[in-house]
Amino acid sequence: MKAIAQDVYGSAEVLQLRDVDEPSIGAGQVLVQVRAAGVDPGVWVCMTGRPYAARLAFGLRRPKVAVLGRALAGVVAAVGPDVRDVQPGDEVYGTSPSGTFAEYAAVSVQRLAAKPPRLSFEQAAAVPISGVTALESVRDGGRVKAGQRVMIIGAAGGIGSFAVQIAKEFGAHVTGVCSTGKVDLVRSLGADEVIDYTRDEIDRDGPRYDVIIDIAGCRPLPLLRRALTPRGTLVLTGGGHDAGGLLGGYTRQLRAPLMTLFTSQHLRGLASRERAQELEELGRLIESGAVTPVIDRTYPLADTSSAIRYLAEGHPAGKVIVTV
Ligand SMILES: NC(=O)c1ccc[n+]([C@@H]2O[C@H](COP(=O)([O-])OP(=O)(O)OC[C@H]3O[C@@H](n4cnc5c(N)ncnc54)[C@H](OP(=O)(O)O)[C@@H]3O)[C@@H](O)[C@H]2O)c1
Repeated sequence: MKAIAQDVYGSAEVLQLRDVDEPSIGAGQVLVQVRAAGVDPGVWVCMTGRPYAARLAFGLRRPKVAVLGRALAGVVAAVGPDVRDVQPGDEVYGTSPSGTFAEYAAVSVQRLAAKPPRLSFEQAAAVPISGVTALESVRDGGRVKAGQRVMIIGAAGGIGSFAVQIAKEFGAHVTGVCSTGKVDLVRSLGADEVIDYTRDEIDRDGPRYDVIIDIAGCRPLPLLRRALTPRGTLVLTGGGHDAGGLLGGYTRQLRAPLMTLFTSQHLRGLASRERAQELEELGRLIESGAVTPVIDRTYPLADTSSAIRYLAEGHPAGKVIVTV
């Protein structure tokens, strides 16, 4: 099958469109014919091997898995032993650690759910990483409740565009933070207020937010805490995958739990889990019309390197998708 693969870490030049073996499937797995795959900063991390700490998981000297990509939407081509609820021909979405920028991917049923019928394959491929991370940030990290004031930093990006819609559905008063060109988009997603970070800093209105979900920008913890109420919750979802060094900008995630011991504010990092149950919950939100993926650009499989270069510029408006 055709796939985007790499033998060494590096910039998008290391990616090759080439023939690789179709993945084999074991018990509890299905073979999915990939129709679309999501591009997210995690793909950039796997490609570059940066921050360097990521190589502990993905391979010290070279990538353990040659095929890139993690989120997918497609059609089940075959099912392995012990798979009962999924049949060939089913339209599904989910994640595969063995690569999705490819014609076929092996997916565990624990990371898979039925594709919401309302969505195209391109829209569905936006959900399994970015939608799930947004849901977990709002529901588990922020424990957002109706009537709370919630700030979402990076509101126009892959995760943020979902997080704004989900926080609104949870009944929050939402303030999105983005650059000037994205203000209208963030309002159209339902944000009650928007802060253009090129003009104002996030603490411009004082300590008024019950929950801040920091997805982008790597702001220092003291600045974030200045915008939080005294008993507010800060969720560090992202920011800093490209900040360099051993840990990139993720030292904030390490410091936050320690600082929480000495303050009435709750500061926590978020590590998303890729599970069928979140995909099913998002499917319900999508089918009800509460959440709709925002697609910025789509690229054909052969042009995946351009998709990653565009994402790496750091300013997508919604999701970047590869079609297969
Ligand atoms: N915790 C987890 O489990 C988990 C899971 C997945 C991803 N992540 C991390 O989450 C982060 C964001 O992922 P993503 O998919 O949303 O990325 P993305 O699609 O590339 O979006 C990033 C957004 O950040 C905005 N931005 C850039 N600089 C900013 C600044 N100074 N202040 C506010 N916003 C700024 C950009 O919009 P503007 O044009 O408006 O600047 C862009 O829309 C990454 O660091 C990723 O590694 C974490």
